[in-house]
Amino acid sequence: MKALVLSGGSGTRLRPFSYSMPKQLIPIANKPVLEHVLEGVRDLGVTDIGVIVGDGGQQIAEVIGDGSDTGVPITYIPQEEPLGLAHCVTLARSFLGDDDFVMYLGDNLLPEGVTTVAEDFAEHRPEAQIVVHKVTDPRAFGVAELDAEGRVERLVEKPREPRSDLALVGVYFFTPAIHEAVAAIEPSARGELEITDALQWLVANGHDVRASEYDGYWKDAGRVEDALACNRQLLETLKPSMAGEVDTNSRLDGTVVVEAGVRIVRSTVEGPAVIGAGSVIEDSHIGPGTSIGRDCVVHRTRLTDSIVLDGAEIRDVTPLRNSIIGRAAHVGAGEQETTHHRLIVGDDTRIEVAASC
Ligand code: G1P
Repeated sequence: MKALVLSGGSGTRLRPFSYSMPKQLIPIANKPVLEHVLEGVRDLGVTDIGVIVGDGGQQIAEVIGDGSDTGVPITYIPQEEPLGLAHCVTLARSFLGDDDFVMYLGDNLLPEGVTTVAEDFAEHRPEAQIVVHKVTDPRAFGVAELDAEGRVERLVEKPREPRSDLALVGVYFFTPAIHEAVAAIEPSARGELEITDALQWLVANGHDVRASEYDGYWKDAGRVEDALACNRQLLETLKPSMAGEVDTNSRLDGTVVVEAGVRIVRSTVEGPAVIGAGSVIEDSHIGPGTSIGRDCVVHRTRLTDSIVLDGAEIRDVTPLRNSIIGRAAHVGAGEQETTHHRLIVGDDTRIEVAASC
């Protein structure tokens, strides 16, 4: 079986970060979302991975490489415009050949994995097998209606009035029958070729489409709040390790990963938390639920449930919570002026100050 990992798209829901990096490279527990995804894909025993990339393709290739370190070769397939998930299947036609494949969205995190679904698909080989998850508000997802045996009866993309609470997870198993379906459908109201419509075409034309329910943790990390939630969740799975320096006035509590070259001075780090290589933490309280990237400086700050990207600096702004600080961003008290705030803030940035400030 091959894999097709979708890493294009414009990432509008993850602005401002997606202006300068593809959303699939946002770090979750200090590792790009796409790396977590590729680990999940490799666990399914695939032989080749095709990665669909958009404008951020160059950055993705630099971070992910050609797969030689893991033994599963990676082929990059450019998509010039984000024209939909089913459009990606048509772009990958020659890469996929007539093989079965798993299509995996590059921002979907399923830490518990779907290996049992892959095994089930390999054994029974329905024309397509989807993964569904019960959600309280399915309107933001593709929604499936199933019969009592798990056969799919109907699929609708982002229905206003969902007829079931089963959302489509971004992992799909296909036989080559999907190629006829993607060729037959028309763009949706949002102008995209929807994979949900291609699946519905298979159902309507008498093909066997099955669903497996996944009840582990699942999030699409493509939104700010969801990226923070994923970060908290995946930090819980880290093993503590210590490769930096911690002075005698500092304390590490719980699951804490301290990478090489880190200096922790007069501070507490409360796990789960990770401090990236070369970062300096002084007179601060970090965590829980916090990831700090490489070469950051955090000084006299309390920082909880947050993600700080590489090279950022935070000084004397405290407490901070549920925050994402971008690469090389500086957040701090002014050096001379103390009577007012000064903001130099990029497009689509969100700043929320405490009501008393
Ligand atoms: C896509 C699919 C949707 C699926 C979701 C899972 O939505 O179209 O059916 O439920 O991924 O993350 P999108 O992220 O493109 O809005």
